[in-house]
Amino acid sequence: MFDAIEARPADPILGLSAAFKKDTNPNKIDLGVGVYKDESGNCPVMTAVKKAEKIKCEEEDSKAYIAQAGPESFIKHTLDLVLGNAHPVIREGRHSCVLAPGGSGSLRLAAEFINNTASGTKIFVSDPSWPNHVPLLTSTGLTLEQYPYYDFASHSLDFDAMMSSLKTAKQGDLVLLHGCCHNPCGADLSQQQWQDVTDLALKNGFVPFIDMAYQGLGDGLDEDAYGARLMAEKLPELIICNSYSKNFGLYRDRVGAVTIITSNAETAQAVGSQVVATARQIYSVPPAHGAFLVAMILDDQDLTREWNDELTAMRNRINGLRRMLVERLQAIGVEKDFSFIQNEKGLFSFLGLNKEQVATLVKDYSIYLVGSSRINVAGINSKNLDYLAESISRVL
Ligand code: LMR
Repeated sequence: MFDAIEARPADPILGLSAAFKKDTNPNKIDLGVGVYKDESGNCPVMTAVKKAEKIKCEEEDSKAYIAQAGPESFIKHTLDLVLGNAHPVIREGRHSCVLAPGGSGSLRLAAEFINNTASGTKIFVSDPSWPNHVPLLTSTGLTLEQYPYYDFASHSLDFDAMMSSLKTAKQGDLVLLHGCCHNPCGADLSQQQWQDVTDLALKNGFVPFIDMAYQGLGDGLDEDAYGARLMAEKLPELIICNSYSKNFGLYRDRVGAVTIITSNAETAQAVGSQVVATARQIYSVPPAHGAFLVAMILDDQDLTREWNDELTAMRNRINGLRRMLVERLQAIGVEKDFSFIQNEKGLFSFLGLNKEQVATLVKDYSIYLVGSSRINVAGINSKNLDYLAESISRVL
């Protein structure tokens, strides 16, 4: 059965971690996989998470399955975090929210649910997008259409091209949007642009499918949810997948949620029942550990404050690193203008280097980044900044 199976190449993002670990160069820098890193290069467990884990460890008296949709308080806090606690959709009950295994698990669950109920639905995905979006979404049976998003020459969002492509999306189609901190380019929609896409969705009837993996790492928890909240208010139907990997640092615990907004409360109930039935076909019931931690932190004012302070510090550090990199490249006389990096949001930006230049950075300088020249800005620190800037300057 297995003899004809051929090995696949390493994952273009996750594979970088293994290559980095093997590298013996003392100057090596890991700008690959999108995890937040502190000044010492460590991806820390957040203090509030540590505290919640301690309490949970003492209090937990069963490992029996949890409810199929996830713990009630997790669902309540997820809706408050994503939509804001006074959002009309919550009051009207036009939502169903289901715990899923991480951001990817929530995207997959939503896509499986759509394909179960409307097989072969077309989904518009930005070009570029997180490389795993395409296989993850289309291997469910959804049909892919890409829309232009980023202009590599000007290092900015090409909104006109995006809109003219999205004009072809119609009723029954999905449009994947990055809620904030676009992965891989860091170029986000402005408030006016969110409004324009919302108006188009209303006019043409397509359903936005928002991937919100980085809430809190761009401008702030509320600011980063601007587009999702606007669409939830204006549109009859919407899908939002959020992740707690980055903003709670719960990467390996796999915590995310699918929120589906419907035109009325009755439909929301029906949709919720289909989503949990879909999950039952795949992994049955969701993992509980990380979801309990999120709920515990957001249920407790002191823990919430502590978590929020730490998240704010993470966000400020990322924005500071963006500034430092741009200034350092200028200071050493690099002619190319990298100031766009300062205006982008979240963990990622493209350096704008070609494939050969990226390969040289990896091979000759032990600087690990994705082949598209995407860097994880959080991998920069005061100790490796000079080496990084010098190396970029040399490959240019
Ligand atoms: C990334 O884009 O680096 C992260 O979302 C991690 C992953 O799974 O690819």
